[in-house]
Amino acid sequence: MILHPVVEGEHTMSRRFEDKVAVVTGAGGGIGRALALGIAAEGAAVACLDISADDAATTAAAARDFGVGAVAQTCDVAVESELVAAVERVDRELGPIDVLLANAGGSRSESVPFLELTMDRWQTMVDRNLTSAFVSCLVVGRHMAEHGGGAIVVVSSQLGEVVRKHMAHYCAAKGGVKQLIRAAAVDLIGHGIRVNGIAPGPTMTPGTRELFERPEVAEANRRFIPLGRIAESHELVGGALYLASEAAAFAVGTTLVIDGGYTIV
Ligand SMILES: NC(=O)c1ccc[n+]([C@@H]2O[C@H](COP(=O)([O-])OP(=O)(O)OC[C@H]3O[C@@H](n4cnc5c(N)ncnc54)[C@H](O)[C@@H]3O)[C@@H](O)[C@H]2O)c1
Repeated sequence: MILHPVVEGEHTMSRRFEDKVAVVTGAGGGIGRALALGIAAEGAAVACLDISADDAATTAAAARDFGVGAVAQTCDVAVESELVAAVERVDRELGPIDVLLANAGGSRSESVPFLELTMDRWQTMVDRNLTSAFVSCLVVGRHMAEHGGGAIVVVSSQLGEVVRKHMAHYCAAKGGVKQLIRAAAVDLIGHGIRVNGIAPGPTMTPGTRELFERPEVAEANRRFIPLGRIAESHELVGGALYLASEAAAFAVGTTLVIDGGYTIV
């Protein structure tokens, strides 16, 4: 079943992104799908990029229910040539890109003691999270610079702010994402592009469901997250769309932590 963030989250409907074109990476599931449907609900035409063709197509079809244009594009966003081809298609079919929601990534709940990490595991995690964010900002940033600017929101993690045992590869990649957001922001603001990020806390998604449904993990989350629970994907949409919107015109290089209080205790 597809969760429509507008329905599930009872957002106030507005059309802040009418006539805008948005690209969402990792739009096939979880947080990316919620972001794609959230911005479509507010009027944007949306390009749904994912390594899974079927999942990208499912999100794009749901986005069209909001009366906007939508394309699904199979794409590994860590590979520059694939993203360049995707951006050319989006420009051709939907128009110049105004908003990038660079969400692709995830830990796949891979917990490995530091001394057991291999170069392969390290590289895969860094590519999936940091390289994908870099390539997204690079390729879409070049496109936006040619077309007068835009807004980029990169999805980091609470584990870009604090660390957890046995997740050095993910924590390092997401810590890198936080600095990428800042560094890209100062370079791109002169091109009319605002770069910001969100750092979600633990969120129920296809990528995390198996872990978060384990009784001991569910209990730990209840006890240690001040709010007493993990998030649903739609709860991240409001913060991301705020940063992508004109209401955030003065926000540059910031990462908005949305984590139920995880990082403050
Ligand atoms: N779920 C959480 O608890 C949580 C917490 C903090 C941060 N995040 C971050 O939020 C983002 C989304 O996480 P999620 O839990 O929704 O993940 P998920 O695994 O449920 O979904 C990720 C989607 O991205 C796609 N994807 C992965 N790599 C890709 C690539 N290189 N190119 C294109 N598509 C790709 C996958 O196919 C999938 O559809 C990630 O960046 C993750 O690190 C998640």
